[in-house]
Amino acid sequence: MTFLAEFDATADSPPAEVGVVIRWLRSDWSGMYAELRANRPILPTSAFTMITRATDVLAILAQPSLYSVRANRRSMDPSVGPFMLARDETHINWQEKGLMQALLRWEDLPRARALAGEVSRAAIARASEAGVATPSLDIVPAIARAVPLAIVQRFFGFDAPAEAMLRWSFATQHGMFRNAPFDGDVLARCHEAGAEMRAWLDPFLAGKRAAGSSGGDDTVSRLIEISSLPATGLSADRVLSNVCGLLVGAIETSSQAIVQIVDQFLAHDDWRAAALAADAEGDVAGFDAHVFEALRFNPITTIQFRHLEQDRVLGEGTSYATAAKAGTVLAVCTGSAMFDPALMPDPERFDATRLANSYLHFGMGHHECLGGHVARVSIPEAVRQILRLPGLARAAGGAGLIDFAGGPFPEHLTVTWSREDPAADAAPAARSRTAEPTA
Ligand code: HEM
Repeated sequence: MTFLAEFDATADSPPAEVGVVIRWLRSDWSGMYAELRANRPILPTSAFTMITRATDVLAILAQPSLYSVRANRRSMDPSVGPFMLARDETHINWQEKGLMQALLRWEDLPRARALAGEVSRAAIARASEAGVATPSLDIVPAIARAVPLAIVQRFFGFDAPAEAMLRWSFATQHGMFRNAPFDGDVLARCHEAGAEMRAWLDPFLAGKRAAGSSGGDDTVSRLIEISSLPATGLSADRVLSNVCGLLVGAIETSSQAIVQIVDQFLAHDDWRAAALAADAEGDVAGFDAHVFEALRFNPITTIQFRHLEQDRVLGEGTSYATAAKAGTVLAVCTGSAMFDPALMPDPERFDATRLANSYLHFGMGHHECLGGHVARVSIPEAVRQILRLPGLARAAGGAGLIDFAGGPFPEHLTVTWSREDPAADAAPAARSRTAEPTA
């Protein structure tokens, strides 16, 4: 049965209607979006209105005060305080995003990349020490979470105990961005995690402030240093919220991306061969392009939610124009837009020559990801270390598949490789830079 046939059959039952959408999102989002883009590009449901064509997705992301992130306040404000991703076109967005961007310096990116490589290689070396001919590694705890954790601790300079950071990160990402259908306990855990994180950070930041110019070469030290200047007008509370944002934004997002990219490369030998060929040529940018093209086929999320602030006709001037009332929740389907030929020519083709800025992995416009440029080097470097393993393969049985363990984020994916001399097992020759996706 097609998605729309199934959806229309539930018209009398709002919960069933949303259930159909959620089921298709989990099982065949690309099929559902293809059908919607072709037949019903704007689909009102009882809970939200889905926007699936690229032109409409981009128009919404480009008008933040009209299509706002107000709904994020319920999860974010009690957890990390007022934050840019719960505000639109306010002084917080203007001043704090600009300031944070200035502190997350481009010239530091090689350091972030090196750290991602170091953490990944160390995990691989530990697994290889076991002495077996075919080592195996669950890449989720060992690399996918460990890499962004190290970035937050050692590159951003928010260096709390690992166990606590992973717990705060999980609970806040879950409550802020993955709490659908809504669960009050998930929201409560998000607020508790935020309170714990702030309680840990308060004395940590105060200590750094008391020490004066801490001289640390990390984002938090720079933030402390610059906030001491009256010219920035940044209070201790504002510093705290922004440091929390570094942790919340980084860990589960990067982890899920690393896992799903590796999974795509395990599913498509020719994509992997093409990526490794670029690596073998020393073409780092070319390798990275393969990574983010692979992520397009299974992005960490296919939706950004927005709140409609005024009555509006969505898709005005098109055959599918749809009136919507202020307060409507919009499911802005960025994952669908990345398969719309208006944004991605020949979208079903794996094509690593697409321009980096065409992707919507890191959002677009006013709320475009603050850590995007860091993630654009740390994620591919972690993936590169995994793909380079000679004889890389999925572990047998279920262990070789992504396991969400019933939760919102990947928990396990075990790979194996051979301990033969890597040189004898060098990157397979590129058969093609293009391939038909099976996803
Ligand atoms: C490396 C660490 C990261 C940090 C510190 C970070 C931080 C942030 C922050 C602070 C925002 C809000 C920006 C604003 O409101 O103006 C944001 C937005 C966003 N981030 Fe990240 N992020 C990171 C990694 C990632 C990764 C790996 C992904 C996905 C693969 C991602 C996807 C997004 C998206 C889609 C948005 C926009 C949300 C929206 O428009 O509603 N982020 N990020």
